[in-house]
Amino acid sequence: MKHEPTCLEVFLTRLAFRLYGKSVYKTFADCLPLDGGERVLDFGCGMGTVAYYVAKKLSRGHLICLDISERWLNACRKTLHSYGNITFLQREYPMLTSESLDVVYCHFVLHDISQGELERIIPALARSLKAGGVLVFREPLNNTDKISIIKSLMKQNRLCHKDSRITDIPIMGNALESVYIKE
Ligand SMILES: C[S@@+](CC[C@H](N)C(=O)[O-])C[C@H]1O[C@@H](n2cnc3c(N)ncnc32)[C@H](O)[C@@H]1O
Repeated sequence: MKHEPTCLEVFLTRLAFRLYGKSVYKTFADCLPLDGGERVLDFGCGMGTVAYYVAKKLSRGHLICLDISERWLNACRKTLHSYGNITFLQREYPMLTSESLDVVYCHFVLHDISQGELERIIPALARSLKAGGVLVFREPLNNTDKISIIKSLMKQNRLCHKDSRITDIPIMGNALESVYIKE
């Protein structure tokens, strides 16, 4: 499986971020339940499109940006160079400390991951949340089988569904946004 993007992909994503940053990524960051002091994980952070808006909100908190790709993580370091409250991790989800996080979010990440890997990742994300912590995802609606797998793994890992809605996102189309609370 390919993990590293081409230079063209990084360039086009930066361009999309400049053009659609507010309408695509900020709208998602604004939905997260943040007060400023939380410990937050951006799982599959890419170049930091959402993290750029989340980091601004965490004046007393901490953000972990995690990605499997070294090139995306380097691009993310560049996007977030002016913030001091960020840790960058390359594929270390099994090492996330248990019950240490208030919020985990995944933006256009889970739909592209195999079922086998989701069966390892979702339990690790659930474990990393404190009781009462929140997991939020936004994923495209075109792969309904994958969405069903994600929903059932959430349930198996004691993540209770709180809310969902379908939104039409500029250039990306219909996406499902869901919020889960750890029991
Ligand atoms: C479509 S991009 C989305 C990036 C970012 N969340 C955004 O919305 O702009 C998917 C990202 O997930 C990362 N990713 C894919 N599989 C992963 C895994 N198993 N663990 C961590 N990151 C992964 C990719 O490297 C890529 O950066």
